[in-house]
Amino acid sequence: MTLSLDRIQTSATPQGDNAVLRLWGGSSLKGHVKISGAKNAALVVMAGVLLCPQDCRLRNVPALVDVERMAQILTALGVKLDRQGNILDLNAEHIGHSQAPYELVSQLRASFFAIGPLLARLGSARVPLPGGCAIGARPVELHVRGLQAMGADVRIEGGVVHAEVPGRNSRLKGAKIHLDYPSVGATETLMMAATLADGETYIENAAQEPEVVDLANFCRSMGARIQGAGTKTIVISGVPSLHGTDYSIIPDRIEAGTFMVAGAITHSELTLSPVVPDHLSAAIAKLREIGSQTIVEAPDCLRIVPGQNRAADIETLPYPGFPTDMQAQFMALLTVSEGSSTISETVFENRLRHVAELQRMGADIRVKGNIAIVRGVPKLSGAPVLATDLRASAALVLAGLAADGMTTIKDLKHLDRGYENLTAKMQQLGAKMERVTQDVEVSENATPEESTLK
Ligand code: EPZ
Repeated sequence: MTLSLDRIQTSATPQGDNAVLRLWGGSSLKGHVKISGAKNAALVVMAGVLLCPQDCRLRNVPALVDVERMAQILTALGVKLDRQGNILDLNAEHIGHSQAPYELVSQLRASFFAIGPLLARLGSARVPLPGGCAIGARPVELHVRGLQAMGADVRIEGGVVHAEVPGRNSRLKGAKIHLDYPSVGATETLMMAATLADGETYIENAAQEPEVVDLANFCRSMGARIQGAGTKTIVISGVPSLHGTDYSIIPDRIEAGTFMVAGAITHSELTLSPVVPDHLSAAIAKLREIGSQTIVEAPDCLRIVPGQNRAADIETLPYPGFPTDMQAQFMALLTVSEGSSTISETVFENRLRHVAELQRMGADIRVKGNIAIVRGVPKLSGAPVLATDLRASAALVLAGLAADGMTTIKDLKHLDRGYENLTAKMQQLGAKMERVTQDVEVSENATPEESTLK
């Protein structure tokens, strides 16, 4: 089956800039929600396929705009790709020294992950700089410095990173690399590059995120020799080549965390699976502090038991600290939790843009630099709001579920990048929510009955 963006959601679902999400708060949710494969593991594992000249099958790959974009970039690099449901068959035997098209790369930061595998496999790579995004400048100097330490010549020209391994056999060399910051992306780029390098590579102060471990397990399933993934020091012994594999992507802990907050903010008991409970320890602990219990129903299933929501302080940190990708969703919860909470966003410099939209819904939030003081209010009220980035979109959906009246969320392209069928999953739990094109007029005080949600 060829690939196309309209596979995301159902083709009947309004797409693009003209689509808005309309939801009515106040309903309690119930039932079970199925968690999809992890976006941030699937994207880097797809790039990792470039390391291997044989057939690779990836399972549990979520249907997301970002995944389709990565697939288009791999296809442009010469990868053969076929998709059946959540299974992706890929073959990177015939990749060329070509450069991924700028217009595709500019839409997906994760495309920069191609630089490590291309350099390791072909001895050269040309990848456009990913550039900044809504949440920060997102520099890549840690990736570049690590590749230079492994012997690559790297220069940036015309917005493109040109990397070359000098010498006849043009193979990267093992190296000792200390990361100034435990960057997820830099750890993943250097770990992939080191799998085919000559000798041993040590990555110190490495990122420990579950997605880094999933990438390491994927590479090991192709014959790579990697130890210590998930700890602060990863050791990779380079091998001459890798072989094909059949690998299943881990569940998405951020999607799971988003549904856990949906249960707490609507005071609803929910179950969710498949999940890896250990991947969610920081979110589970913070939810308990706020007032909701999380029960491990089965090794891969959690039950949320809601309680009275009360204030709590949050500081985002690299894993196993509290994930920055859950900050906005927990802020939405704390806007209706009793008392005053302090939220410090330490990972990204511009990740509080959802505050203004939550204030539009009646939240009491003051911001100073990267710190937000949230005073709980009894109730939010529905309003027309604008999604500013992926996780901010999820926070507005959660706030809308708890608000009085109707909330309309514009600019859904962010949500589609990272949540598979969110509307359908929420509707299945009983949420009054619909995705419509903007020109379907309903008055602000419309009830679900007066809308298309008959
Ligand atoms: C990954 O981004 C995730 N994206 C992000 O998820 C996530 O928020 C982030 O890790 C942190 O957990 C993917 O996996 C595709 P970093 P990444 O390198 O790799 C700075 C979502 O919502 N930095 O750990 O880009 C950087 O600017 C997304 O799903 C440098 O200064 O994150 C940032 O402030 C958003 N120089 C901090 O480190 C570098 O060379 C963390 O970035 C690299 C990073």
